[in-house]
Amino acid sequence: MEKIRWKNSLSVGIELIDNQHKQWIEHYNNIVESLTSQQDRAQISKTLGFLIDYTEGHLSSEEKYMTANKYAGLPEHKAKHDELRATLSALVKEFEEEGATTQLSKAVDTFLGHWLINHIQEVDMKFGAFVRENKIVLS
Ligand code: FEO
Repeated sequence: MEKIRWKNSLSVGIELIDNQHKQWIEHYNNIVESLTSQQDRAQISKTLGFLIDYTEGHLSSEEKYMTANKYAGLPEHKAKHDELRATLSALVKEFEEEGATTQLSKAVDTFLGHWLINHIQEVDMKFGAFVRENKIVLS
């Protein structure tokens, strides 16, 4: 399980969204740190809670901008967000039932870390291009 480092190839070209992604990555890295350093259950639970809250805030924010600007790719993009919401719920359930197992760490790495990078580079990038092409100012 590795932390994610911000790099330019993750930029969607929209500062507001990039900043949210940087914060998102920081929350992801915090849960990686909590799991790899085997922090106590209460701390892991707290860190996981912060990640979930931030994730929901970010996904809702993007969906709000897509709706407000009549982005045609919204249904497809939102479906991906809903996949992540379901994955996070499953991870939390697993943590509550089994604790911080090796299996949970693998799931965080595979279903969350890899998902996050792929989503930014493939799905969010398209929305970033739409915002830039249409000279939309997000605020
Ligand atoms: Fe940045 Fe579509 O999540």
